[in-house]
Amino acid sequence: MLTKSEFAARILNGHTPSIKEKATAFAPANIALVKYWGKRDSKLNLPVTDSLSIDLGNLGTETTIEHSPDGQDTVILNGNKLAQDDPFAVKVINFVDLFRSALNQTAINRPALTITTTNNIPTGAGVASSASGFAALTKALDQFFGLALAGRELSLLANLGSGSASRSIFKGFVFRHAGTESDGMDSYSEPLPCTWPELKIGLITVSAKAKRVSSRDGMERTVATSPLYKTWPDKVKEDMAKMLAAIKSKDFELLGATAESNALAMHECMRAATPPLNYFEPETEAIISKVQKLRQEGLSIYLTIDAGPNVKLLYLNKDEEKVKTEFPDMRVVNR
Ligand code: PMV
Repeated sequence: MLTKSEFAARILNGHTPSIKEKATAFAPANIALVKYWGKRDSKLNLPVTDSLSIDLGNLGTETTIEHSPDGQDTVILNGNKLAQDDPFAVKVINFVDLFRSALNQTAINRPALTITTTNNIPTGAGVASSASGFAALTKALDQFFGLALAGRELSLLANLGSGSASRSIFKGFVFRHAGTESDGMDSYSEPLPCTWPELKIGLITVSAKAKRVSSRDGMERTVATSPLYKTWPDKVKEDMAKMLAAIKSKDFELLGATAESNALAMHECMRAATPPLNYFEPETEAIISKVQKLRQEGLSIYLTIDAGPNVKLLYLNKDEEKVKTEFPDMRVVNR
């Protein structure tokens, strides 16, 4: 089994860097319609199952990398210069070091860098910024070092930051392969050749607080203790087949029903862990009931929920006004 450094070196070693003055890249946030929950290798963030997501358009992260004038690595997050020992800054610098170390082997000096990263995801929108953050950082590093890596390589590297970041390298519908190789080189993402402009996403924020249990810890607890986790990989397989068929034939009912069922099954799996992992707030439950009631009344609306209390609605453009009336606090994602 490889370490993160060995994994990055394997991808980067064959490439000759040509360092730029400055590079800027954007990556969109994404939501999974078929979720990733559980790692087959926790060091390399390799997932147990495939997953499938859709990007959140212009909501995401922009990251700039440039030389530091004072010779010190600096991380600026949303306009604030972070302390050297700030946990976010440490994570970013460790990630940058994967590139610097691997590329040093092909003899470049180790430049001190300033990394400026800005999330335009509205504060409290209930959308994780780690996916777009690590994807934007990977793309910016690729440009800064003049590597011109392929999308597949970028997705493999972004995954070292966070599993869902692998999918944020691309726009549109993105398929993440779990892969089976122990070195993880077949665990990459790729975009699906399909667009669906009528499909809309709405974000409802129930709570803007940071989640109580991180995805990493939550996944570990679920895999180790939830009796329902045994059936999760089969559930993903079934849902993935349905999701791919739904996207191909633009069957919104099948897409929505599959995404909702997959998300609720993931949360059931978590709640069966010891101690139970419950990311929902009472308001989350109320929204789930409301969506299901509206559906019984004939409105074509579905939901998905990640590792937190916030709800993402799925509907078609033709129903947008009705959905907005029912959920006035919803933020529409422009894709
Ligand atoms: O990439 P992570 O470690 O933040 O985990 C993502 C987990 C979910 O958002 C719940 C599911 C997914 O596939 O994005």
